[in-house]
Amino acid sequence: MKHLVYFEEHPVEHTKDFLSKNGSHPESPLVKEALERAKQLVSLAYYRSRNRGKALLAKGSLSASDLLSLFKHPEDETNVAVQAAELMDTAVELIRQLVYTQEKRNSNITGILSGRGLSTLAKVTGCAAQLQPIKCSDSCLADKYRSIDGTCNNRKNPLWGAANTAYARWLPADYEDGFSVPKGWNKLKVYKGFPLPLVRRVSHEILHTQNENISLDTSYTHMLVEWGQWIDHDMDLTPQSASTISFMDGTDCSRACINQNPCFPIQIPAGDLHLGEGAMECLPFIRSSPACGSGESSFLVGKLQPREQLNSLTSFVDGSMIYGSTASLASRLRNLSQELGLLAINQEFSDGGLPLLPFAERKFPNPCALTRNCLVNASDIPCFLAGDSRSNEHLGMQVLHTVFLRESNRIAATLHKLNPQWSGETLYQETRKIIGAFLQIINWRDYVPKILGPEATKTYLPPYSGYNESVDPSISNVFATAAFRFAHVTINPFVSRLDENYEENPHHPSISLHQSFFSPWRIIEEGGIDPILRGEIFSCAKLQTPTQMMPEELTEKLFHPQKAQSLDLAALNLQRGRDHGLLGYNSWRRFCGLPEAHTFSDLQRVLNSSYLAHKLLKLYETPENIDIWIGAIAEPLLPYARVGELLACLLGRQFQALRNGDRFWWENEGVFTPHQREQLAKVTLSQILCQNTHLHYFPTDAFASSHFPDDFVSCKSPQISRVDLTAWKEDPTDTPCGPVPLVKGAYFVRCKLLVFFECRQGYTLEGPSSIACDAEERKWSTILPVCQDINECKPSRMNPCPSSLICVNTPGGFKCACEGSMSLSQDGTTCIKAPGSTATALAVAAAGIAGAISLITVAVTLHRRVGPIFCDPVRKRGSQTRQFLFKPQNFSSNSTLHTLYYTTRETNKLTANNSKTTPPES
Ligand code: HEM
Repeated sequence: MKHLVYFEEHPVEHTKDFLSKNGSHPESPLVKEALERAKQLVSLAYYRSRNRGKALLAKGSLSASDLLSLFKHPEDETNVAVQAAELMDTAVELIRQLVYTQEKRNSNITGILSGRGLSTLAKVTGCAAQLQPIKCSDSCLADKYRSIDGTCNNRKNPLWGAANTAYARWLPADYEDGFSVPKGWNKLKVYKGFPLPLVRRVSHEILHTQNENISLDTSYTHMLVEWGQWIDHDMDLTPQSASTISFMDGTDCSRACINQNPCFPIQIPAGDLHLGEGAMECLPFIRSSPACGSGESSFLVGKLQPREQLNSLTSFVDGSMIYGSTASLASRLRNLSQELGLLAINQEFSDGGLPLLPFAERKFPNPCALTRNCLVNASDIPCFLAGDSRSNEHLGMQVLHTVFLRESNRIAATLHKLNPQWSGETLYQETRKIIGAFLQIINWRDYVPKILGPEATKTYLPPYSGYNESVDPSISNVFATAAFRFAHVTINPFVSRLDENYEENPHHPSISLHQSFFSPWRIIEEGGIDPILRGEIFSCAKLQTPTQMMPEELTEKLFHPQKAQSLDLAALNLQRGRDHGLLGYNSWRRFCGLPEAHTFSDLQRVLNSSYLAHKLLKLYETPENIDIWIGAIAEPLLPYARVGELLACLLGRQFQALRNGDRFWWENEGVFTPHQREQLAKVTLSQILCQNTHLHYFPTDAFASSHFPDDFVSCKSPQISRVDLTAWKEDPTDTPCGPVPLVKGAYFVRCKLLVFFECRQGYTLEGPSSIACDAEERKWSTILPVCQDINECKPSRMNPCPSSLICVNTPGGFKCACEGSMSLSQDGTTCIKAPGSTATALAVAAAGIAGAISLITVAVTLHRRVGPIFCDPVRKRGSQTRQFLFKPQNFSSNSTLHTLYYTTRETNKLTANNSKTTPPES
């Protein structure tokens, strides 16, 4: 007999009747009703999750899992992909429940619905749009610059490596039901005769290490660890549902300890330290979002396909964490008010004159004030905004984001000087391309070999031999969910903050890692990025050893100082592996051609540790069940490497694919000129740090441990080489057809034998957007475009001025003015009777017009919302830019501690213009 587990409103008999009559009709009530119900359930769950989040924030009781949700929360285009899949899954689940018994759960839904019924479902939920093939542009410029979302890098497979597509699966998925449910969901289920151990037990019994018991890696600085995470944030971010509440029955994942999609809580074993007074018996865990066309919705692609997870970033190392992976975020990050190709910077604060990241939308109360003592209303310093949602995660990440924001603007400004004919768009694209190359060079030349060691580097990364279009560069599920998380066991539990003498900063000393989570206010109020940067290049990474795996900062205090509300990174990694259906340790060893471990002695030999083999078998009982992440990090390090043989293989393969399968790889023929490549190869992280901070001395290799001051060299020293950007100077006269013809008011850029024109702001291009050089005839095409002034005041357009003002068109812009003898009010928004003489009225009008225009510019370009004013009067937000003033000291080996390191002072008026604080000139 069929059990109906949902749709209580339809009695069984009625439903049978209903199905037989309507089941396969495209517009059938079945499909319609399931869709309607799914929409209601999904939007109700989103709505309740949002309200819950707001209420918690207001109480100041945001938990660690809420913070995790915050940065895994899908945005913009990712949200569309996630919501489509969730709506589809819910609709399918409803239909399935309506029709089938629980036992027949895996039955194929195509049996019940007609093709047209399915396509209605796919269309209405938005899944069909997600699976549409895309067409790549043939334009020369589309070949010159990467797309922001990574599409069309591979022209035959345009979605390879693109944002918001599923991770690559190097080995088939392994789910409890073979299809979508994670292993460990049903606690009674056994694998190879044994139940899986609770992930928190594995964390507690194998990984947990007292902070003070860690050993340091005396070869490498903590910057090596930071870099790994920085590059990870360029390559992958797995979104989770926007809902923290189950769609089907409203279970709140943060409260209930039951498995109900998307809740997959981490059970806390009895006797665990985590179970303090009032704490729950589980840590909340939300499943990663499914990808359309997999799991429940896989019949859309014609076959039952296991659940896949999405990567919301482009897989390529292309600077996604700086510029974003979606068009909407990318444009929010830019300064579009000027045509200089700059990224937006903070309008309220600077770091001793150097720019800081802009603020994200102000939220009230503010999740980035969690680490302050006064939680509610305590801070007017919101989270920073960057290309990746994890930029606020901890201070080290914020430092790298800030440095690269500055570097991007420095390069754009230099390119503008070299090529004034380039538009803001060209400057932005060229800068992005150079930064992408810098990241690739530093990563593959300076970072990866230190991790893989010389042998594996030789095996997986032999000299580059060109782009291979048959290589899929997509990040693999095992890389994001296990392999590249290896570095979680190399994180130092202390954040070192040092003064100019590389001694403990007396005013803002070093802090525990958990105190640095989500705390941008520390950058603003505690001395900018320099003290933290000194700590990163001077303090050591943690060494991975069999008995000291993960410090308690990460197993007991992740994202929250209070144990009862914190998370455990090791448990998250393991649970995530099961959530994503990753196969076990032995399968991956087989994949890499390594001997498997089937017995205790095998395991002892592979791990070179009877201690670990014993611990693992005590928990897992058989080597066959060992989760990939714990097995891989338990292996002994290869010589001069920071990973064992399995990780070397998995990381090596991924970095190889990312290099060989990237059409825009910096060494690929035609991407840069040979002269540009020669210059790019000179880049070092130390050079970038030199040019974008107040520090004047650095070790030549920021990743290698060094002694201060002996190993530090001046930024002016030839040991810290410089990339000469004159290699990017484009000579507009040097073409086979002679000088590029001038088009008044237009920017232009060359692309092979074409020249593309773009008009300055306030003008529109009429005629062809490009001209071609006929190399044989040595002639340009004859028809040139023209830049026509846009009449912003045309009656058919919306009046850009406040309603009581009239719009007056000017070349390249417009003015707002008053009619007759009226003059503009001081705030420039209304007309008032002219006070006194005509001359005064004119002056007031002129000032008012300027005010109005700048107001409009601010409104249109900054899209910035001023948040409420908060409790601390010192930090009360007004219309002023605050600058942290301090004396940037030149290094002197015997200089004493600089006591008054920085003070706040109100300075310049907040200007309407985003770029008033110009990028630093080196
Ligand atoms: C203080 C330093 C770090 C913290 C606090 C941190 C924390 C986290 C957290 C909370 C997650 C999400 C876990 C989950 O829900 O599945 C995560 C994911 C991840 N972490 Fe870290 N991490 C740190 C450093 C690193 C480093 C150094 C690396 C690599 C070199 C790394 C690589 C990754 C990767 C690959 C993921 C998966 C990202 C995704 O695709 O969603 N992390 N980390």
